[in-house]
Amino acid sequence: MTEEENFTVTPYAVEGAIDYEKLLAEFGADKLTDEQIATFPDPIHPLVRRNVFYAERDVDRFLEAANTGRPHSIVTGRGPSGPMHIGHVFPFYFAKYLQEQTNALVYIPISDDEKYLLKEMSLKAIDRHTRDNLLDLLAVGFDPDRTRIIVDTADANVVYPLATAFAKEVTQSTVDATYGTPANIGISFYPAVQATHLLLPQLVEGRHPTLVPIAIDQDPHVRVCRDIASKQRYNVEKPGALLSKFLPSLGGPGKMSSSDDVPSILLSDDRETVFKKIRRYAYSGGQSNIEAHREQGGNPTIDVSYQFLAYFFEENDERLERLAREYRDGSLLSGELKEIAATQIADFLENHQGRRSQLGSLANELAPYRLNSDERTRARERVGYPDDALSQW
Ligand code: TRP
Repeated sequence: MTEEENFTVTPYAVEGAIDYEKLLAEFGADKLTDEQIATFPDPIHPLVRRNVFYAERDVDRFLEAANTGRPHSIVTGRGPSGPMHIGHVFPFYFAKYLQEQTNALVYIPISDDEKYLLKEMSLKAIDRHTRDNLLDLLAVGFDPDRTRIIVDTADANVVYPLATAFAKEVTQSTVDATYGTPANIGISFYPAVQATHLLLPQLVEGRHPTLVPIAIDQDPHVRVCRDIASKQRYNVEKPGALLSKFLPSLGGPGKMSSSDDVPSILLSDDRETVFKKIRRYAYSGGQSNIEAHREQGGNPTIDVSYQFLAYFFEENDERLERLAREYRDGSLLSGELKEIAATQIADFLENHQGRRSQLGSLANELAPYRLNSDERTRARERVGYPDDALSQW
């Protein structure tokens, strides 16, 4: 990325004031059109309706399969580098929503290897985050018959043979051109692992359209995977993508990140903590005092509390519109808007936490979501790994 653009978006760094349009031109993805939005299963999810998912690759093939009852799958994953915050969770709730609507198969890969390679963190710490994140993902409530959860190091007997096959298709110069010079050879190999994630549903179940709903910083992985898929050696379709903007951070426009000075709202935060964080940190689009606000009104498009509601936490379009109107005309104060956002977020988190606390031991809960041995064998055979290979024993 060049200096004068003054923002950076790669899988390994997101910085600066992001120009989402420019990013599309640079990445070569397409804007999600109104016609495409209209073909999403009804009722259309707010994240799609409101353009949080704003760009796509090959979304039409996925939608056609979803709308005609043919096999289709979703892959969206998690890099377990810390506790999950509200910006991490919306692709998963979106995937669950689509699964309920169209019976989509959902694959959820956990890239513990990736985060070990990227962060100054021990394997033990990564393992702790993996377990904690898995409980949050299980709390979303996916259908175990239609969902698979894969942990890279724990499911190495399927991930590694496939990633090895795909790594052979990618040159070092492609990696360098797509991501910049990797910090170590593990990072250099990792794109083959994420390509494995994106192709896994087809390798297990046979050729069909897959959609990857994910924040736009992950698009380079999708591109590398699509190149591998286009080699035709594996009889798979190129995975499609539905690319989102970033949930703003509490402190203002920009990505919510665990390493900012302002805190993020964690999935484990209780009511009181949510209210405290929003009251104290949520960037306001209002005026500096009540008189000025009553007179001039606020700006919802830069107000983080409003943006949280618009992204995910207020489903009802009329209520959202009314809040925007009242904020603009000054009848709704910034503090009042913060209370509304905090209430909605705290309600959502209480439900999520309630489901999480109902879960039993991780091993028991995870078991029905793991690939069975047939599924592992089928995937390995698709890249030419023999059925009676050692890893079967
Ligand atoms: N690399 C992603 C991240 O850092 C996590 C991830 C792994 C992922 N595999 C995936 C995301 C497949 C989407 C699809 O957040």
